[in-house]
Amino acid sequence: MNADVPWDAAFDSIAYLDHNYRALQAEDAEILHIIRDHFGDHFRKQGAGPVSGIDVGAGVNLYPALAMMPWCDEITLFERSVSNVDYLTSQIEGYDETWDPFWSALCLKDCYRSLDMDPRERFRKVVRVEQGDIFDLWRHEGRWSVGTMFFVAESMTAVHEEFALGVERFMRALAPGAPFATAFMAHSKGYHAGEHFFPACDVGESEVRASLEAFAGDFKVQRLESAAAVRDGYSGMIVAYGWRANSDSTIPVG
Ligand SMILES: C[S@@+](CC[C@H](N)C(=O)[O-])C[C@H]1O[C@@H](n2cnc3c(N)ncnc32)[C@H](O)[C@@H]1O
Repeated sequence: MNADVPWDAAFDSIAYLDHNYRALQAEDAEILHIIRDHFGDHFRKQGAGPVSGIDVGAGVNLYPALAMMPWCDEITLFERSVSNVDYLTSQIEGYDETWDPFWSALCLKDCYRSLDMDPRERFRKVVRVEQGDIFDLWRHEGRWSVGTMFFVAESMTAVHEEFALGVERFMRALAPGAPFATAFMAHSKGYHAGEHFFPACDVGESEVRASLEAFAGDFKVQRLESAAAVRDGYSGMIVAYGWRANSDSTIPVG
């Protein structure tokens, strides 16, 4: 169960960061390509004013927030583990150079390149960190207008019901029509963040599709082409992106 995992005491944020994000890997470059196009195309067509965004289970990963930044006047980095919350908070005043290649990858699309402000200044202005539990997000149904959740629902539990509920909580936190992007480890057996081994739920494209379809309108589930062994014990990565449905095909909670 997710509640039994020592997220505070045992998640080694810096070991996880070193392993996954010290350099821009092919898989993350591919994800950045997909989401910059998805968000860029959505907001170009929509053309409304600034919105609020959320990245659920942010960990120590800043690139989902960077990907939402051009259109947001507020971005919540929502995370459970204290050590990850500390890392995220330490990045607000001026994020590490580690993240520059990620921003540069986004800047291959004009809407990022033409941001009217230094990205660190914009990040400082709009990003806030909130410690919280994904299962409590039902309190904020429909609150955010763009959202991301990368490697969380399947990488926080070995229990399939909790995986599905995690996706549901994320999706329900989004307003009708909100664009979203999610990423999942395919058939993960679990992973290390430092010494401790963390559980994962074995999911493939069909489980990802099934978890989203009641809450998403138009959406796409796609296996990444790049297969660098960034994170051990899994068989690839899945990205799913699209729009929050205007109404659910299940009964609302609360
Ligand atoms: C594999 S990490 C992914 C982190 C980051 N999103 C990334 O892309 O690297 C899983 C994250 O989920 C967080 N997490 C675990 N249980 C959670 C919960 N109940 N609510 C919110 N976050 C949770 C962990 O603390 C960790 O940061």
